[in-house]
Amino acid sequence: MAANIPVIRFRDVEQIFTENDGRPIHALTELDFEITRHEFVSVLGPSGCRKSTLLRLVSGLIHPSEGVVEIYGMKVTELCDEIGIVFQKPTLLPWFNVLNNVTFPMRHKYGRVHREDEDRAHELLALVGLGDFAQKRIDELSGGM
Ligand SMILES: Nc1ncnc2c1ncn2[C@@H]1O[C@H](COP(=O)(O)OP(=O)(O)OP(=O)(O)O)[C@@H](O)[C@H]1O
Ligand SMILES: [Mg+2]
Repeated sequence: MAANIPVIRFRDVEQIFTENDGRPIHALTELDFEITRHEFVSVLGPSGCRKSTLLRLVSGLIHPSEGVVEIYGMKVTELCDEIGIVFQKPTLLPWFNVLNNVTFPMRHKYGRVHREDEDRAHELLALVGLGDFAQKRIDELSGGM
């Protein structure tokens, strides 16, 4: 990738939501910024100030009402593998155990999970202290887990 292309760029982005009664909510307006390689950016603000909305725009989960979001100079039009998002609330599938939740993206995308994917999933679970919980049901975990 060319070093001078911003990793993330918002160009005059506006996000309008619609209230139940049809009234527009101008959630984000005139958002214009770029984030370059090796920058580490935190978004801080009070509850409801649209932080998650911003992340959903970056990850392609929603699309701006106006303006453009770019990743490495390419307009974000769909979900892409290069972007991971940790959702605010757990988004686990209750009919899978812990291990199968971790490997779900592989199963979803490629239709199968290789042995090395499972090994890596076990490593990652161990890394966050859940090594002994791989076979547990989701409802056997605590909120923090
Ligand atoms: N799909 C939607 N339809 C209508 N309004 C929405 C929608 N998504 C977000 N909003 C509006 O944006 C506001 C919150 O945005 P967002 O979830 O981005 O806030 P936040 O900064 O992440 O808040 P918190 O710190 O509580 O997580 C909501 O209160 C709502 O008014
Ligand atoms: Mg949020």
